[in-house]
Amino acid sequence: MNQTSSAKPLAGKIAVVTGASKGIGRAIALALAEQGSKVAICHHQDGLNAADTLSELQTKTEALCADIDIADEYQTEIFFDQVEAELGIPSVIVSNAGIIHEAPLTDTRAEDFDRVIDVNLRGCFLVNREAVRRIKRAAIPQGRIINVASDLGYLGRENMVSYCASKGGVISLTRALARELAPDILVNAIAPGPVDTDMTSIEHMSEEALAKDLNSPLARFGSPHDIAAMAAFLAGPQAGFITGQCFGVNGGSVMP
Ligand SMILES: NC(=O)c1ccc[n+]([C@@H]2O[C@H](COP(=O)([O-])OP(=O)(O)OC[C@H]3O[C@@H](n4cnc5c(N)ncnc54)[C@H](O)[C@@H]3O)[C@@H](O)[C@H]2O)c1
Repeated sequence: MNQTSSAKPLAGKIAVVTGASKGIGRAIALALAEQGSKVAICHHQDGLNAADTLSELQTKTEALCADIDIADEYQTEIFFDQVEAELGIPSVIVSNAGIIHEAPLTDTRAEDFDRVIDVNLRGCFLVNREAVRRIKRAAIPQGRIINVASDLGYLGRENMVSYCASKGGVISLTRALARELAPDILVNAIAPGPVDTDMTSIEHMSEEALAKDLNSPLARFGSPHDIAAMAAFLAGPQAGFITGQCFGVNGGSVMP
């Protein structure tokens, strides 16, 4: 039987998913659309993939897409202005945009470190802050923030100091914000293990690092849909008693 629009768990919601032209963000955006939410996505200089994702989203829901640098305060604010004007104030926020950088500490330039922290941690802060300002101003109920961290934020990984530091920061930011915003807005993180995306291709990671990614009980890469299923759950009505948590969707790489 077809699910009617009113029966969908996120019907009437407006969601923002950052870094959603491809990979995990794309799968999350499509999963939220399937659940009935309107969806705004952004990306950085990835127009071809973004156009494809937007057109697939538009077969399911009202959607928009913007090319921004999430680390830029002004561009992030303008993006939320556009979302508010075209779709409404979002109450489901998925901060997913991220980059990776692999190099030994001694070869890591300060500007490489800064860029990873700027996109992964400052970008998460800016998106969370921009969303919360608007949710509070309009007293939108049942806000949900979901920040995408990484299992490497717990484990650490040689030659990935900036990435691991940024993701550890995302986990701590999530916990602090969950305390600050309770009970109005629930704030959680997902810490994926290795997932089959462009980020985990040989263009972005060494063979050694990719081989280490298989060193977990399930010994394989996950799919973006594995992460999207958790994000859809955290955005939905069944997750109303969950805040300040970081969910490892990771094939068993971390067992807290
Ligand atoms: N793939 C994995 O194995 C894995 C594991 C753990 C965590 N993660 C995290 O999941 C998230 C998504 O990763 P992915 O594997 O789908 O990556 P991906 O490279 O496939 O996609 C990254 C997305 O982020 C966007 N982006 C990059 N820089 C941006 C910027 N400055 N401003 C706005 N958007 C920007 C890109 O345009 C793209 O849409 C990242 O935060 C990543 O760190 C991925």
